[in-house]
Amino acid sequence: MALHATLKNVTKSVLPHWIVIGAGIAGLRAALTLASAAEVTLITKEVASESNTHYAQGGIAVAMGGAGDVALHEQDTIQAGDGLVFEPAARLLVEEGPARVTELLAWGTNFDREQGNLMRTREGAHSLPRILHANGDATGREIGRALLERVSGEPRIHLHERVTTCDLIVRDGRVVGVTALDVAGQACEFLGAGVLLASGGAGQVYSDTTNPSVATGDGIAMAYRAGAEVSDMEFYQFHPTALSLPGAPRFLLSEALRGEGAFLRNHHGERFMERYHPLAELAPRDIVARAITREGFGERPGEVFSVYLDMRHIEGKDLHQRFPGISSFLRKYGLELERDLVPVRPAAHYLMGGVRTDLYGRTTLPGLYAAGEVACTGVHGANRLASNSLLEGLVFGARAAETVLQEGLRRNAPEAATQEIAAVDQSPIGNMHALRERLRGQMWLHAGLLRDQAGLLAMQSELDAMRAQLPAATTREAAELRNLHTVAALITASALARKESRGAHARTDFPEHGPGGAKHSRMVQGRVDFIEFA
Ligand code: SIN
Repeated sequence: MALHATLKNVTKSVLPHWIVIGAGIAGLRAALTLASAAEVTLITKEVASESNTHYAQGGIAVAMGGAGDVALHEQDTIQAGDGLVFEPAARLLVEEGPARVTELLAWGTNFDREQGNLMRTREGAHSLPRILHANGDATGREIGRALLERVSGEPRIHLHERVTTCDLIVRDGRVVGVTALDVAGQACEFLGAGVLLASGGAGQVYSDTTNPSVATGDGIAMAYRAGAEVSDMEFYQFHPTALSLPGAPRFLLSEALRGEGAFLRNHHGERFMERYHPLAELAPRDIVARAITREGFGERPGEVFSVYLDMRHIEGKDLHQRFPGISSFLRKYGLELERDLVPVRPAAHYLMGGVRTDLYGRTTLPGLYAAGEVACTGVHGANRLASNSLLEGLVFGARAAETVLQEGLRRNAPEAATQEIAAVDQSPIGNMHALRERLRGQMWLHAGLLRDQAGLLAMQSELDAMRAQLPAATTREAAELRNLHTVAALITASALARKESRGAHARTDFPEHGPGGAKHSRMVQGRVDFIEFA
């Protein structure tokens, strides 16, 4: 769809105009609600199906069995979050989740069923099987398909694919749009009554990640540069079991494999998780990730051993049928789930922190709302419960959009979208690829799964030195590099400031919880402090 044509249509409309950035589960869900009373420009950096949502394998956690079931889901979410979950956010997630999932079912999402009943699996730190899945291990893709189908039938939603957003536009203290590079690489502006960020995570800030290449933290970086508060940036979740084969991508091997009985074994062939946690392979994700890392270190410096997922003992289940995507991927590398040990190690997977919002999706900047992985409501605390992220996108995407409808539209006069083409800056952009790879490698080394003050200070110096080499955001690569740098600086500063270990944030120099209870980190314009969410 041509950018120009769309903007002309929108300009004719008498309805207010909102901008949604991101076409994962949170953005699609938000756009559907907004479209009931607004024209919606939905911007995505790639094609709409390319987001973290699309790659979510295991499923969507939801308690559909009434009050007791919901209470248990809340309890598991709080327990996994290691003392930092903002409990009102967790309550909303689990209480509103069932209605949102029922809506998904009504919109044609095909979750897996057995004799007509929804199938449920279990993952780490869940006290019972409550995770719905689709096509075995392609849950995100199926939910995304159903939502996109609905979005494409909604004439007020104007989808712009392959548009790179660069910076938020703030006028008179209110966010009213975003500068961007359109599909042809031309600079442009999208203006409206406000912006709803649903741009997802930032796994690309680490050399080892399960995230697709689009996950460069654009929304967080843009919001921070515009003056929004970000919170809990030190909490990056490392998925314990990404494939670890030379030459293969860090492909996600869903926690549902362990939910269906997979063991973890070290290079001696020993099951080791019982030594780390009573739930063994189904311990919270941060504990499993660190245990795998520890088991992988040898006695001598630099000595590294493989750790394996093992499903060879599982009988009476067709593993290829249950996990068709994973099984087919492994077959390309000559591995069979029924027959082989599968080498794994952790990879960056999900950011618990992000742009700070209240329970209604409001950020600290007027006109800017956020939902999903880009946002931090405190719902995950220091460690997200497995398969709570798709539910988060649905529940908080809808909530943020409803808030906009209730207050955003009323407060702002409808404003037509305009487009202003600026000249593209052709200044040399240096060796961006090398800089990006260096940043990612150094982040893995110094701000990864295990951190300490010396490493984090080294990372800060590295980022300071890189700052002068950052190109202006005149291409997608340049804009992403600048955003990765911003996100890396936020993670590093927050990780340095938190002098304790908690959830996914493991400081080897402060291995215990700190005194005085858990608080959330908050960062705005270069300063970090610690607060309680209210
Ligand atoms: C997985 O399938 O293990 C990933 C699900 C999640 O990140 O919650």
